[in-house]
Amino acid sequence: METTLIILKPDAVQRGLMGRIISRFEDKGLEICGAKLMTISQDLASTHYKDHQGKPFYDGLVGFMTSSPVLVLAIRGVGAIGICRSMMGATFGSKADSGTIRGDFGVSNSFNLIHGSDSAEAAERELGLFFNAGEVQTIDRAIQGWVYDLSSGTPE
Ligand code: RTP
Ligand code: MG
Repeated sequence: METTLIILKPDAVQRGLMGRIISRFEDKGLEICGAKLMTISQDLASTHYKDHQGKPFYDGLVGFMTSSPVLVLAIRGVGAIGICRSMMGATFGSKADSGTIRGDFGVSNSFNLIHGSDSAEAAERELGLFFNAGEVQTIDRAIQGWVYDLSSGTPE
């Protein structure tokens, strides 16, 4: 099982797309195990996107991410990090494939609706940045045995 950090960016919240984007993850069988509506501070945005410091788009990115509230999600499932990244689609809305969140809901390259952790290390770091201890839930899902084949003892 993996848990990943997803952020529905200010454009997704302002455009009323939260429900439809969350539904895609739920429809896939992934579990929403943390959720927080918040306004990201300059400090938090800088820390979160520290790998992009110095790049030409960095100031605009931090400005965008702090401009209006976001919805921060923790999403769990087998292979959740990679599954969420492929469901998000390519970085730029103009290039993202149809069928992906960025491909279906946006055309902008800067306002690209969603962030997702890109590795296990990033997920651990980013979950720690946005969620305090106890805020990511352990859910004993009644449906789990129909989402996964649990007959071997591990979810398949
Ligand atoms: P994210 O981190 O937000 O999930 O997006 P990503 O992995 O697909 O893309 P990344 O390379 O990490 O870039 C982070 C965000 O910076 C903006 N960006 N603009 N103008 C540009 O060349 C450019 N490149 C990146 C995007 O908002 C991207 O989501
Ligand atoms: Mg990234």
